[in-house]
Amino acid sequence: MEKTFAIIKPDAFAAGNAGKILARIYEEGFKVIGLKKLFLSKKEAEGFYYVHRERPFFAELTDFMSSGPCIVMVLEAEGAIKKWRDLMGATDPAEAAEGTLRKEFGTFVGENATHGSDAPETATFEISYFFSGLELL
Ligand code: RTP
Ligand code: MG
Repeated sequence: MEKTFAIIKPDAFAAGNAGKILARIYEEGFKVIGLKKLFLSKKEAEGFYYVHRERPFFAELTDFMSSGPCIVMVLEAEGAIKKWRDLMGATDPAEAAEGTLRKEFGTFVGENATHGSDAPETATFEISYFFSGLELL
C-alpha cells in the first residue's frame, strides 16, 4: 500500500467543502491514515512549498496557503500518489476534467481546492513535514 500527502486548501475549507471532499476520498477507496486542521503561518507555508521558491507565483501561493485554516491528510491506497492526483484533476480548475475535485471545488489556478504529492520522494518529505510517526498509527 502506498501513502500520499493531501491538503484541503484554505479556499475549499472556507467555502465549507471539506466534508464533501472527504466523502469523495472515502468513496474512492482511500484510507485516511492521518488528518488534522492547521492554520499555517507564512513561514510554514514557505517551508512546505520550498521547491517553488524561485517561481514567480511563490509569494502569492504562500500568502494563500497561510490565509486561513486547511486540513492536512495522509491517504493510503494502491498507487495512492497517482490515484489522488487523478481525483484532484489538473492544477488549473479551468483545465480539470469533469468529476475531478479541482473542477468541482477549485476557482482558478491560484485557488484550486486541494494539494497532492507528485512523487514518492515528495510524499515522504510532505508527510514528515506535518505528521510524526505516532500520529499515523
Ligand atoms: P499542488 O502542489 O498544490 O498539489 O499543485 P500542483 O502539483 O498541481 O501544481 P504545482 O506546479 O506544484 O504548483 C503549486 C501550486 O502553485 C499554484 N500555481 N500558480 N499562477 C500560476 O501560474 C501558478 N502555477 C502554479 C497552484 O495553486 C498550484 O497548486
Ligand atoms: Mg505540486
